[in-house]
Amino acid sequence: MDQQQNFRILVADESHFHFAETICDEMEESAKARGTGIAKRTPDYIREKMREGKAVIALGETGEWAGFCYIETWSHGEYVANSGLIVSPKFRKGGLARLIKKKIFALSREKYPNSKIFGLTTGLAVMKINSELGYEPVTYSELTQDEAFWAGCKSCVNYEILMSKNRKNCMCTAMLYDPADHYEPEETKEFFEKKSKVLERLNRIKEWKFLRPFLRKEDGGKREEGSGRPVRSFLHYFFNL
Ligand SMILES: CC(C)(COP(=O)(O)OP(=O)(O)OC[C@H]1O[C@@H](n2cnc3c(N)ncnc32)[C@H](O)[C@@H]1OP(=O)(O)O)[C@@H](O)C(=O)NCCC(=O)NCCS
Repeated sequence: MDQQQNFRILVADESHFHFAETICDEMEESAKARGTGIAKRTPDYIREKMREGKAVIALGETGEWAGFCYIETWSHGEYVANSGLIVSPKFRKGGLARLIKKKIFALSREKYPNSKIFGLTTGLAVMKINSELGYEPVTYSELTQDEAFWAGCKSCVNYEILMSKNRKNCMCTAMLYDPADHYEPEETKEFFEKKSKVLERLNRIKEWKFLRPFLRKEDGGKREEGSGRPVRSFLHYFFNL
């Protein structure tokens, strides 16, 4: 971010409906740019979250959209997810995601004090912010088993991997805050600081280990004529491997 801004971090409502398209477009563009997966959302879905008071929006000094995140509930409210975190590219790297996550976490705790709050992410920035809030890494079996939640992964490019692992693992790291049994934010933050390099490496290992069978299946062991190099598959380009 070029210059320091004073953002307004608000619980979104009807007055923010007109930002829904921009938010959706940016979610999709960012996922494409990262070459990673995303559960696709429509502008109508975003507007519904605003109407229900289950979304946080950040606005810049001139009133332009700067960031967004929303709440979803699963397993009849036993679980809450803070999903769809997005910061406008021009406002990134200035601490805005941290402010939005703080606000949506507080809103989730206020609305659903007994719910477990969880997130799935491939992003180290989000893992870092989550660990500052008291989330800890968990296995997928500790997340909601609500079919509707996992159905959201169908639009993700990594869905085939998730299913091949019987929904027990995928490219994303699962993190959870359990109000009934949790570490203090200082402890989870310290854990992340100590382990961030390991988590980064684990992400790369996951990528290599999970994608390898798909790459092999795709190219069928074919070699480029003359060079003997493996034929590049669609997935090769898609995942920048
Ligand atoms: C991920 C995203 C939300 C981060 O927003 P942001 O406002 O730039 O994040 P912040 O400035 O609050 O950064 C929080 C911390 O994460 C770190 N961080 C930010 N981007 C990072 C990155 N790409 N890789 C590693 N760490 C990163 C920051 O250094 C900061 O830590 P520090 O204050 O100790 O230095 C933003 O890049 C984005 O919208 N990306 C596209 C969508 C996306 O990936 N959403 C997450 C889906 S789970």
